[in-house]
Amino acid sequence: MTNALSVLLDVDTGGDDALALLLAMASPALDVRGITCVAGNCALEQVVTNTLTILDALEAPPVPVAAGMDRPILEPGLPAPPLHGGDGMGDLRLPAPRRSRVHIHAVEFLRRTLADSAEPMTLICLAPLSNIAMLLRMYPRIGDKIERIYVMGGTFAAPGNTTPAAEFNVRYDPEAAAIVLHSGLPVTLYPLDPFMQVRFTKEEAEAMAGAKGAGARIAGGIALHYCRFFGMDFSLIGDAGTVATVIDPEGANWVRRPVHVDLSSGTSRGATVFDRRVMTDGFAREGEWTDVDVVTRVDAPRYRKLMAAALGAVEALAD
Ligand code: RIB
Ligand code: CA
Repeated sequence: MTNALSVLLDVDTGGDDALALLLAMASPALDVRGITCVAGNCALEQVVTNTLTILDALEAPPVPVAAGMDRPILEPGLPAPPLHGGDGMGDLRLPAPRRSRVHIHAVEFLRRTLADSAEPMTLICLAPLSNIAMLLRMYPRIGDKIERIYVMGGTFAAPGNTTPAAEFNVRYDPEAAAIVLHSGLPVTLYPLDPFMQVRFTKEEAEAMAGAKGAGARIAGGIALHYCRFFGMDFSLIGDAGTVATVIDPEGANWVRRPVHVDLSSGTSRGATVFDRRVMTDGFAREGEWTDVDVVTRVDAPRYRKLMAAALGAVEALAD
């Protein structure tokens, strides 16, 4: 597809990052020009292995994969959340990857790829923002080659997940999130509010797990892992919803609002505070606030179908 959008993905694969990779690699609307890895859902080396494993399982073209930051900019890093399983990707026991990473740091890979691109590129960030923040700080002019940054992170009106106030990607590296969200670059945030909306049922996941295509089997296996872990009869497509928003923006509702990233050391550290007041003229806002586009809701049935179609598993959907 000649008018495919040139994108770079930043991931902490991670079960739901794997779902996002499955969607991005299958979509003719996206030209994935590189994938950068960062510590988050699991240690950096495991993130790299999981990412290469998914690409091998899909027999994907040789898209460059680079390893980046192995810890946040300031903090030592949070423990790997147990929900993703021992290997961070649902313990599916997929074959070890044959393909290798590129041997330059992810930040340098991002700089070179963006600098060499004739046109500005789109970043799809599904992980702690340590790589992206370092890129913007080390190369302040690189923003001229960034069309838009889509970020899965934060909350708009929803509660947090990692803490009552904060979502995992932002809480894992709050300083990095502040650098990116307050950069003034075009940012679209995909927070937990829509993240929690798009689901597969356990039955749909079972149908996918038994499907012919490798992508469908992997997606079904990951979804069943999450169903088991949470003891629920559904599983979220998670990060893949962010990719769906890039592919099919008509399926998303968004507003433009000022956001502040809480860098305090208290219980709200890593919160994304949005000024949702209707009347703000003449009312104070203390600290740093930056307008971003934020997705508040998505058309979940539409994105379920988009995801299932990318997996070649539309028949697995109950409706
Ligand atoms: O809070 C959800 C986010 O944190 C997702 O990107 C998930 O993969 C983890 O990185
Ligand atoms: Ca992620």
